[in-house]
Amino acid sequence: MVVADPENGSKFENVETENYALKIFQSTLNLLAHILIGIVVGISIMFAFRNGLPLNMTNLHIVLCVIGYQLLMAEGILSLCAHNSWTAGLRVVDRRRAHTILLIMGSVLAIVGSLIKSADKNVNFNTLHGKFALVAMVFTTVCLVNGLTSLYAYELRKCIPGSFSKIPHIVFGVVAFVTSLISLCYGFDYNFFKSWTSNVGPPFGFAYAIMGMAAAFTFIIIVNPMITAFNKTVRVFK
Ligand code: HEM
Repeated sequence: MVVADPENGSKFENVETENYALKIFQSTLNLLAHILIGIVVGISIMFAFRNGLPLNMTNLHIVLCVIGYQLLMAEGILSLCAHNSWTAGLRVVDRRRAHTILLIMGSVLAIVGSLIKSADKNVNFNTLHGKFALVAMVFTTVCLVNGLTSLYAYELRKCIPGSFSKIPHIVFGVVAFVTSLISLCYGFDYNFFKSWTSNVGPPFGFAYAIMGMAAAFTFIIIVNPMITAFNKTVRVFK
């Protein structure tokens, strides 16, 4: 932004103000993402526990999958972002540790949640909800294995160039996270969820509002890794 010096009227670039405005924008989006994660995960858990304990297989899979994908995986991806509230003060090495722990825990919970519901059914992956969940599960597994080569990218640099493990890791992670969102939205589209939300919330459309919130935080979360993947790809071709 070009501003005039109040002393002599000469014009100069105010880089500070520009970065500051961008910082505020990024921190606000980060806060919004955390609020939306809380609402979506909170409502899903309330729904899963609506009949109290013990949980049946469907409710247990909702708890495990939503905590795995929409809470732990989401926080795991955010933890590497420079503007993320709770990791901004951490050293890079500790951010990576937080990312690794959250993603391992999230992936395990999500995969177990998906498998227990599949085992509970006679015919598998016959619905769009199940099909997208299967894609998310496959990409999560690949991303987990690929994450290890990214973690040891420095040690493995002689056999695998760093970008070759990191770029696919980001792409697989983003695909897993987005397909889990699509599966979640198909889950929220089931009539038993829609009728429950119209009992506890506004008369109708609340389920769609929750889908919108889930889509919004997913979009906010994937922007940063996509920019990183793009920049890394450009660097490979330069
Ligand atoms: C990211 C979150 C979720 C994931 C990854 C997920 C994953 C899965 C998987 C893998 C199956 C078994 C599919 C099969 O073997 O055919 C399934 C079934 C099912 N899920 Fe989910 N689920 C999620 C959230 C939800 C939510 C929020 C609801 C409801 C509110 C829900 C309701 C159901 C129902 C009713 C079935 C049985 C019918 C079907 O297969 O479509 N799920 N889910």
